[in-house]
Amino acid sequence: MAVCLIHALGEWIATALQMDPGSVVQCPAGFRGNGTHCEDINECDMVSDVCYKVSGTQRCINTDPGFHCLPCPKRYKGTQPFGMGVEAAKKNKQVCEPENPCKDKTHNCHKYAECIYISHFSDPMYKCECRTGYAGDGFICGEDSDLDGWPNQNLVCGANATYHCKKDNCPSLPNSGQEDFDRDGQGDACDKDDDNDGILDERDNCPLLYNPRQFDFDKDEVGDRCDNCPYEHNPAQIDTDHNGEGDACAVDIDGDEIMNENDNCPYVYNTDQKDTDMDGVGDQCDNCPLLHNPDQIDVDNDLVGDHCDNNQDIDEDGHQNNLDNCPYVANANQADHDKDGKGDACDYDDDDDGIPDDKDNCRLTPNADQLDSDGDGRGDACKDDFDNDSIPDILDVCPENSAISATDFRKFQMVHLDPKGTTQIDPNWVVRHQGKELVQTANSDPGIAVGFDEFNAVDFSGTMYVNTDRDDDYAGFVFGYQSSGRFYVVMWKQITQTYWEDKPSKAFGISGVSLKVVNSTTGTGENLRNALWHTGNTPGQVRTLWHDPKNIGWKDYTAYRWHLIHRPKTGFIRVVVYEGKQIMADSGPVYDKTFAGGRLGLFVFSQELVFFSDLKYECRDN
Ligand SMILES: *[C@@H]1O[C@H](CO)[C@@H](O)[C@H](O)[C@H]1NC(C)=O
Ligand SMILES: *[C@@H]1O[C@H](CO)[C@@H](O)[C@H](O)[C@H]1NC(C)=O
Ligand SMILES: *[C@@H]1O[C@H](CO)[C@@H](O)[C@H](O)[C@H]1NC(C)=O
Ligand SMILES: *[C@@H]1O[C@H](CO)[C@@H](O)[C@H](O)[C@H]1NC(C)=O
Repeated sequence: MAVCLIHALGEWIATALQMDPGSVVQCPAGFRGNGTHCEDINECDMVSDVCYKVSGTQRCINTDPGFHCLPCPKRYKGTQPFGMGVEAAKKNKQVCEPENPCKDKTHNCHKYAECIYISHFSDPMYKCECRTGYAGDGFICGEDSDLDGWPNQNLVCGANATYHCKKDNCPSLPNSGQEDFDRDGQGDACDKDDDNDGILDERDNCPLLYNPRQFDFDKDEVGDRCDNCPYEHNPAQIDTDHNGEGDACAVDIDGDEIMNENDNCPYVYNTDQKDTDMDGVGDQCDNCPLLHNPDQIDVDNDLVGDHCDNNQDIDEDGHQNNLDNCPYVANANQADHDKDGKGDACDYDDDDDGIPDDKDNCRLTPNADQLDSDGDGRGDACKDDFDNDSIPDILDVCPENSAISATDFRKFQMVHLDPKGTTQIDPNWVVRHQGKELVQTANSDPGIAVGFDEFNAVDFSGTMYVNTDRDDDYAGFVFGYQSSGRFYVVMWKQITQTYWEDKPSKAFGISGVSLKVVNSTTGTGENLRNALWHTGNTPGQVRTLWHDPKNIGWKDYTAYRWHLIHRPKTGFIRVVVYEGKQIMADSGPVYDKTFAGGRLGLFVFSQELVFFSDLKYECRDN
């Protein structure tokens, strides 16, 4: 620190302070001493946080005399204080805020778009999303009557942007994947003969393959030319390893080069064949890998076999204590980025790089060096990809969870809520658009298609459309799914109706959107079936948290879009359903803490031809 003797300056100071030269003088602001001997004070040291700090680094410059701050870091906006003395420093602390084009109104989103600010992610800092009822790239939005994310008319988007700017190839039927097999400009969903072989799709045993002669040797209603097992009756056409040969006729279903009869996980690729508990079921497909249970029964559909399932779950996150990587902290998603067996939610160093999370500029990506070249507070190692899952944050539906990066219901667990029931058949789900669109075709008993991704806080939206005028029953979705006896369901009935089986309990279903919490003492079966149908409460089964007082039922051939917000920490739940651009039903804030998160799924009860389109989920943990 520079010491300055300023006898000469004394006179100037005295003048400046309008005092008589020679009388007792004080050191001016920015100095300390007895008046004849003054030295520069270091405002930066004496006042903490004068300037905005980036990962603990001092960005205050002490000058002789005075101080100033460095400009706000890149992509931040704010003041750049300077001055002399402690008082000035205290009064004038630097405030830097991340640039927020959404708030600053410097964004160029379309008037029918929402500007979404992406916190602490670099470049670009916001994205534009067309509002419900519109589609486009966000910079331009056009009407989208069927709410599948594709506009009714071509949009003149920017040179680069082709995203959802093309005219919907089925403008009045949701088809978010825009599949068009014969490339005739009319999407398969609304093309009566996709392959132009003169046989209409609904009668064509190969709707996506030209086969005017319709041969079908095994009579499974899948024509020989498109049958993955032409000589084996397999209407479902399941092909686990996607090699073109159906499971029904494959000698090695999962393609791990171990023949089915010798494979201890015939449906899961496991070359190591490890089987710790020696029950004949390999660890990779064993629902109790450490406990002998050749039967693999999992009656509550929570993916934990009954032999090792105790359902003791202190934190109610769906993972029983002895299988929970944070037994006392709710973390339904079980994220554990350093794979040390301790979930991120209870690990003070998530990436095990020796830097505690609260000081780490890349919490999920090891970077002991903490290098941050552009000084924006985020380390180079995780610059545009926080969880290092190779999907950039801007495209990642869960930027802070490497296990989830896109909405995908291609793989799901089929849960039959009334497995013994014979009043109707089981649901039949057809997957489209890489798992972002599912169509349920059967008039079925209640069932859920539950995805495997697990969530704490989540936003979930989708478009629902019933493509028939037959029937008037339930369709909807589930969230916070933990088992077939524990989940939340949003279900929507077209008309008010008493269930035709009045045992074991009379069930009266009222038209309109319902939000229910299922906490069943019996699990799947007729008790739960009737309780689900009923609008109201059934002790030991189902509680109705909210029912739309307007009792508006869904209309045939009409697209609706739902938006769910679930924040398990506070118990906050909100469901909004749009018809076109208008809000049709809104639960407002509902609070319930029964379940601290879980999985998402789609729900039907006795309703056929339900389209669930343009499905979208996003983690909201931060
Ligand atoms: C002021 O402080 C300096 C250095 O500590 C000392 O040499 C000087 O005598 C002091 N003057 C008065 C008036 O106290
Ligand atoms: C279009 O692409 C160019 C070159 O890749 C890029 O510099 C520009 O920012 C892009 N414009 C938009 C609106 O994305
Ligand atoms: C990020 O992931 C890639 C693999 O995708 C890996 O090679 C790299 O080492 C990871 N980075 C860090 C810092 O762990
Ligand atoms: C769920 O049901 C179980 C069994 O009846 C009960 O012990 C538990 O308290 C219920 N949970 C809530 C949050 O109501």
